[in-house]
Amino acid sequence: MKRRIGILTSGGDCPGLNATIRGVAKAAYELFDAEIVGIADGYRGLIEGEWQEMKRSQFSGILTLGGTILGTSRQPFRNMRIIGDDNVDKVANMKENYEKMKLDCLVTLGGNGTHKTANLLSQEGLNVIGLPKTIDNDIYGTDFTFGFHTAVDIATDVLDRCHTTAASHGRCLVVEIMGNKAGWLTLYSGIAGGADVILLPEVPYDIKEVARVAEARARSKKAFSIIAVAEGAMDRKEAKMKRKEREAARAAEGFTCISARIAKQLAEMVGVEARNVVPGHIQRGGSPNAYDRVLSTQFGVHAAQLIRDGQYGYTVALCGNSITHNKLEDIAGVPKPVPQDHQMIQVGRDMGISFGDKQSK
Ligand code: F6P
Repeated sequence: MKRRIGILTSGGDCPGLNATIRGVAKAAYELFDAEIVGIADGYRGLIEGEWQEMKRSQFSGILTLGGTILGTSRQPFRNMRIIGDDNVDKVANMKENYEKMKLDCLVTLGGNGTHKTANLLSQEGLNVIGLPKTIDNDIYGTDFTFGFHTAVDIATDVLDRCHTTAASHGRCLVVEIMGNKAGWLTLYSGIAGGADVILLPEVPYDIKEVARVAEARARSKKAFSIIAVAEGAMDRKEAKMKRKEREAARAAEGFTCISARIAKQLAEMVGVEARNVVPGHIQRGGSPNAYDRVLSTQFGVHAAQLIRDGQYGYTVALCGNSITHNKLEDIAGVPKPVPQDHQMIQVGRDMGISFGDKQSK
């Protein structure tokens, strides 16, 4: 049986993209007579018709490689059906290029936006399989996305290093972790890194509660604090605002990021020496950890099995300890925030960690 597969990686990169591409390709070559076409820079390459026939050897030696050998770009889903000044009908182009490449199937590695476009293309009649990637872990229907655990390791390492320097100086360090809409990365790394306060987009905080913790610690023997804050965290007032309004209010205050504002507020309110740390894209770079290499390989192989079986319109997922798949139409566009009553939040509260919303026992 012969199958010609197009592969693309779309949206923000993350560790494990190459490991997943390798998993798909190696299993496809084993399971059937596969031909693989690599599409450049995500949906951009599909829209503009930029691709290359891949050789088997190109999938070797990439298990540990960070980034993506195919390149990536952000092509917002909301613009996909809009024809702009360039007069390009993006959906028509993608369908046409799929035909030109003579594909039996398109494999898309990406996050939420990527899955929405994958679903759109599936509904337009293309054979599509999705693979859930993102350090944010916010794809509905899968327990974990690949890339997440590596980012947790990196953010935890940042928190560990902040711990020793904060302790030496008796300072308060506010560490800003990636995650605009979902706080999974901050929650997991905050617990792993022993943060005193964890602030998530899903749990609006009161700066007075954060100050209370910083002050209590400043007065104690351990006269330092570690605050893990998600980049998308909001205080209670901001939580009532629309996104644009919130952004404008922050810009008017002159802060480019949330951690800088919190550090300044704590210095003023508590009198502690406070600094903010923004590891930023370091959290997305470099080699995947062992967990993500295994998950990526399992995901990739499952995608190849679906192709072998001619099952399309799905995205691969982890449920419990099993690799499975969900219908694209069931998961595309469905958010996966951290539930306020999530077990990990309770674990944190029962450890005496503050989530900035109420006083822990
Ligand atoms: O979705 C992954 C992510 O790293 C988010 O955590 C972050 O908010 C965003 O991408 C940053 O995007 P960009 O790389 O385009 O600045």
